[in-house]
Amino acid sequence: MLVIDRADALRKQLDAARAGGLRLGLVPTMGSLHEGHLSLVRRAASECDVAAVTIFVNPLQFGPSEDFAAYPRDIDADLGLAEGSGAEVVFVPPVDEMYPDAPRTSVHVAGLTEILEGASRPGHFDGVATIVAKLFNLAGACRAYFGEKDWQQLQVVRQMAADLSFPVEVVACPIVREPDGLACSSRNRYLGPAERTVATVLHRALSGSASALAGGERRGAELRRLMAATVASEPLAALDYAEVCDPATLRPLEAVEGDARLLVAARFGSTRLIDNMGVSC
Ligand code: PAF
Repeated sequence: MLVIDRADALRKQLDAARAGGLRLGLVPTMGSLHEGHLSLVRRAASECDVAAVTIFVNPLQFGPSEDFAAYPRDIDADLGLAEGSGAEVVFVPPVDEMYPDAPRTSVHVAGLTEILEGASRPGHFDGVATIVAKLFNLAGACRAYFGEKDWQQLQVVRQMAADLSFPVEVVACPIVREPDGLACSSRNRYLGPAERTVATVLHRALSGSASALAGGERRGAELRRLMAATVASEPLAALDYAEVCDPATLRPLEAVEGDARLLVAARFGSTRLIDNMGVSC
């Protein structure tokens, strides 16, 4: 496995692979790799000739009071896990390689980024879209693998790739969950034991609403109320939002008719977790 920390070296390596007729799979991450990330790497490795993983904790997507400095980093463990899952190239740039100067250009995807996560984390998706655009430019034509756990991020990246005509096929991969239902996340490691136990309430809230929908409840307000009530039943959980949205536009639905996405976010102490589930009727 080749470990690269310079942008021009990554570009050359991937251009050469493509020129040799190889298909490229890109897996952008911020490291602290868990089973969710590894499922993306394994899928990229199985569907493409070269799986390239990027590991970069992107300062642009963290607010001033967020956990950029404390975000978990363990590059040695990450390299071993990436290699064990089939990565052939890992790009691990230092911050000044990606942002030699404070960037004056920012990618903003209007409409999708001000709501839900964007309401609690202003500017977050501009930071995500900007770094993903830079990675797409460096990688060139490829398939890029993103987890459905960050459903809103996935829609933002899809929209950006389409609007800016990146030669990139965005591939959505299913959420990977712990045996008790908690969605895998790098931030799960911040949870204390009691918080870890109750954090499954997010999955229970989503499943409860999905069951109500299957039982005939179509009203968005009632499906939201059910999720909020489930989260509220856990004193260690503080609800941020519980929404029923159109899967692509993320507009709140008054009633579910066809496909919808249930999305929740809550704090457990100082740790903020998100989860979501696709439903249809
Ligand atoms: O999902 C993540 O880990 C990050 O938001 C991403 C897409 C790698 C951009 O920094």
